[in-house]
Amino acid sequence: MARTDDGTDANAGAAGLRHLTDVDDLSATELEEVLDLAAAYKRAQRAGEEHADLEGQTLGMIFQKPSTRTRVSFETGMTQLGGHAIFLGADDIQLGRGEPLKDTARTLSRYVDAVMARVFKHENIEVLAEYSSVPVVNGLTDDAHPCQTLADLLTIREHEGGFEDVSAAWIGDGNNVAQSFALGCALTDVDLRVATPAGYEIDDDVLERARDLGGDPTITNDPVEAATGADVIYTDVWISMGQEDERDVRTDDFEGFQVCSDLLEHADDASVMHCLPAHRGEEITDDVLESERSIVFDQAENRLHAQKALLSWLLE
Ligand code: CP
Ligand code: NVA
Repeated sequence: MARTDDGTDANAGAAGLRHLTDVDDLSATELEEVLDLAAAYKRAQRAGEEHADLEGQTLGMIFQKPSTRTRVSFETGMTQLGGHAIFLGADDIQLGRGEPLKDTARTLSRYVDAVMARVFKHENIEVLAEYSSVPVVNGLTDDAHPCQTLADLLTIREHEGGFEDVSAAWIGDGNNVAQSFALGCALTDVDLRVATPAGYEIDDDVLERARDLGGDPTITNDPVEAATGADVIYTDVWISMGQEDERDVRTDDFEGFQVCSDLLEHADDASVMHCLPAHRGEEITDDVLESERSIVFDQAENRLHAQKALLSWLLE
């Protein structure tokens, strides 16, 4: 544990303390370590082998937005590792009544061994990390979804047999999932083409970070250009949590960006990815989501294995 024995303040800056605010908090080597550990946990779980590596440890889970996969995979993962997780809905704790995040971070750090948080503003995950003396994991912000990327990369590695010569196409919104995925592709040398409508591109800052990591994502407004010859085609909702007021304008703007059988004709036998939840008939058609090319439930399952690995790695 990162807290001090004598009860003195052990906040930001504790030696060895690591967080996952976005994928590029990990080096390429560290990312590979986490993915290897995830694969080992997956094998162990399937074989029914004991892997209670976090016995007696507790994860606090703050949620300002709804969740199915993130909530259940983190909580189940902690149980499988011999630990425990506490669901902290923002409206159930004093955060919802205005207690500052920095106070929440310092308080939780005195109780739990790690904090996972799903918040709106990305700066809020950074505040949590700054003031927490235990590892903080980003469970999705408006700008990033690194835990999703860990599962996505594990899934790609399983289906493609590695990352070498793999090309991925992102079709749709250059949103939180797309941005972390772009960083993950850069770290693993996956060739990425991102097709978004004009005005919905991934942020310049993220593009620069991806390039700093050696990535060179192609940015286009043409879904066919991105999909042509891709090994995996990935999409996400057009209207993310918190953007409900933009439904009408977004629905118009994303016309032509649906992952449908016509688009897949440009991509031989590409696998289809989606972080879920999916909105059938919007960003993806029902027949594609239900087709043999869809690997979306492998992705969903891999959230569990990847996050167990991440927690175990962070708390080592
Ligand atoms: N993909 C994902 O994060 O799903 P939830 O919103 O259900 O957690
Ligand atoms: N982009 C989506 C991802 C959900 C997991 C959202 O932020 O709502």
